[in-house]
Amino acid sequence: MDDMMLSVKSLIYKYPDGTHALNDISLDIKKGEFIGLLGANGSGKTTLLRAMDRLIKDFEGSVHLCGVDIKTLTPKEIYKKVGLVFQNPDDQLFAPTVFEDVAFGPLNMGLDTKEVERRVLNALKEVELSGFEKKSVHNLSFGQRKRACIAGLLAMGHELLLLDEPTAGLDPMGEYKMMKLLHKLNKENGVTIVMATHSVDLVPLFLNRLYILSRGRVTRGGAPEDVFSAPDDMENIKLRLPHIAELIYRLKHEDNIPFERIPLSIGEARREIIKTLRPET
Ligand SMILES: Nc1ncnc2c1ncn2[C@@H]1O[C@H](COP(=O)(O)OP(=O)(O)O)[C@@H](O)[C@H]1O
Ligand SMILES: [Mg+2]
Repeated sequence: MDDMMLSVKSLIYKYPDGTHALNDISLDIKKGEFIGLLGANGSGKTTLLRAMDRLIKDFEGSVHLCGVDIKTLTPKEIYKKVGLVFQNPDDQLFAPTVFEDVAFGPLNMGLDTKEVERRVLNALKEVELSGFEKKSVHNLSFGQRKRACIAGLLAMGHELLLLDEPTAGLDPMGEYKMMKLLHKLNKENGVTIVMATHSVDLVPLFLNRLYILSRGRVTRGGAPEDVFSAPDDMENIKLRLPHIAELIYRLKHEDNIPFERIPLSIGEARREIIKTLRPET
């Protein structure tokens, strides 16, 4: 149990207007994992992240953070470990300059100004925003604002980052760079990451495991290869397979090309195609 970061059991949440947003969700996230919550709009991803960060309090069921029920923790104790990056950076950024914004968290932790400065500069470097310290947050691009939000949490030294649609609204290169950044934070800095997304094409390349959410329930969970290996009900939950997997799946099942497995990336697909079409090589 020591390696458990977050354990969610039988989580049920109904908004005050009667909407059943979470219907009995259970999932476990181990320290060091990079986990995706994949689901169509309205499936409950944001609500689940907010419950994990205890921004939503009156849920049924339990959320344990490193083995401790978060209902017994103070907000300060939770925010020391867990950082939530909102979908829209403008809901998160508020200080006039990038430096002040990123410094806000560490200053509130009571660190001295030298340590705060060290952390801010480090965090900005991690997210490739060095040199932007004095810039107004309003003058950053959307992608830069998203990265500034992440820097603000990194500067606080969170062990667990919850990100709500970190790639939404970014151009294809921005999406790829964001995933590379998160991958690096996970692998090199050891940050456990949970990200909500509805983007199926990029995530399999980076995530260890994912949970599929539909109508407030987890319908499937596992490694991307396993989750995407049964595509039939993806449509029911308003998702699709990654494009490359869809193509190979159709070639296999509709055109009888005997692929052994369904690849999830261009690189894997290339190897699989060469192996299948030129078995002697
Ligand atoms: N503040 C709210 N009040 C009432 N219903 C809400 C509120 N926020 C979200 N919902 C509803 O809860 C469900 C889950 O929403 P949400 O968690 O935002 O899903 P996702 O992030 O996957 O798009 C949806 O049916 C949505 O309409
Ligand atoms: Mg959402």
